[in-house]
Amino acid sequence: MARNSMETFIEKVRGSWGPLSTGLVAATRRHLVGLLEASADEEWLAALHREAPANQELYRDPQHGFVLLAHTEPAGLYRPPHDHGGGWVIYAMQQGEIEMGTFARLEGPEGGVRLVKRNSTLVRPGQVEVYLPGDIHDTRCLSGPALLFRFTDRDLKKEDREGRRVTRYVEREDVWTVGVP
Ligand SMILES: [Fe+2]
Repeated sequence: MARNSMETFIEKVRGSWGPLSTGLVAATRRHLVGLLEASADEEWLAALHREAPANQELYRDPQHGFVLLAHTEPAGLYRPPHDHGGGWVIYAMQQGEIEMGTFARLEGPEGGVRLVKRNSTLVRPGQVEVYLPGDIHDTRCLSGPALLFRFTDRDLKKEDREGRRVTRYVEREDVWTVGVP
């Protein structure tokens, strides 16, 4: 039976899976670029365009634990700076444009935390962006509705509850800092 692009993607990721390494990131990135080349006629992709879910889990690997999600975002949607706990994430743009910024976290002598923005990248259809453990980023949808895939090496909701918690930052007097607990 002919496989669709999603099944091919899953098979390739499973085939190259292993501990986090340069090679694993490069391979997963390549597989995601392949997934972005799926024909809009494939039913699973046509359904995503038709139904435009804000958040939908497409696949969860029972053996390795990686997860593939789809998100539909309206133009203007902003997601403030955050990290991904101990996990790593690859964003892959299927439709629309999202600006993604990266930040460094600085800690002052008094223990205060502030973020400094490093740069921002406009991510267009066919492109992917990688965020490794500890990386901090924000996203702003500039052209929508945007459809993006979010590949995570683990369940980030579970990571937030039980693992190295995800840190979300808040803006106070024009400075991004940690939220009040
Ligand atoms: Fe993120």
